[in-house]
Amino acid sequence: MVNEIIRLKGLTKLYDKDTRPINNLNVSMMKGAWTSIMGPSGSGKTTLLNLIGCLDSPSEGTIHINGTEITKLNRNQLTKFRRENIGLIFQQYHLVPYLTALENVMMAQYYHSVVDESEAVDALKRVGLGHRLTHVPAHLSGGEQQRVCIARALINEPSILLADEPTGNLDQKNGDIVLNLIKELRKDGHTIILVTHNPTIGRLGDRLIKLIDGKISEDSNC
Ligand SMILES: Nc1ncnc2c1ncn2[C@@H]1O[C@H](COP(=O)(O)OP(=O)(O)OP(=O)(O)O)[C@@H](O)[C@H]1O
Ligand SMILES: [Mg+2]
Repeated sequence: MVNEIIRLKGLTKLYDKDTRPINNLNVSMMKGAWTSIMGPSGSGKTTLLNLIGCLDSPSEGTIHINGTEITKLNRNQLTKFRRENIGLIFQQYHLVPYLTALENVMMAQYYHSVVDESEAVDALKRVGLGHRLTHVPAHLSGGEQQRVCIARALINEPSILLADEPTGNLDQKNGDIVLNLIKELRKDGHTIILVTHNPTIGRLGDRLIKLIDGKISEDSNC
């Protein structure tokens, strides 16, 4: 398919014979689309994002991203592929506590082997944090920390953005700021996969997939 960016075929993850958090998924996602994933706790949402995000490998099946079968890559190739193609935003921000906002973003550049301070400053300005460059995470609010994560996720211009409950720890106001940023990224052509427990947020995208026990229970356009 011309505009397909992600294809999952027979995707299965099993931890032991009784735990099969992802169970034979067959899904294809279009370039530039926002897909939301919902489902009860333990239904496999994070496991699925980790598989697409090259943080984990499946037990069975294949994953194609941007035409590359990532399930064939070795560990080093997978890490390189992730840095070039995927931005990750987590519910827990995973910022380095002793580095400033600017340094946290620059560290992502460092791993991509191009360090450009003015680009990192621009990324933080884009998420409204131009006045917080030298603050360490402990001196930032939860919403600000999540925005640093978004700046960090975007610094390498990934085509795909994976967000696991990105507003889960935020109040309404900060949640709205983060969602508006994600809406803008969607407009700019990024492909977005967002996990949420909030049905209103689940309907903000183009498509909603519901998981139950690692299988798709519903797949609808919004
Ligand atoms: N490393 C692991 N080893 C064994 N079982 C695991 C492991 N990671 C996850 N699981 C199990 O896989 C299932 C799916 O977990 P997952 O984290 O994907 O759920 P989730 O849908 O993201 O839930 P939540 O909404 O609570 O975040 C759960 O039953 C979980 O206990
Ligand atoms: Mg989860």
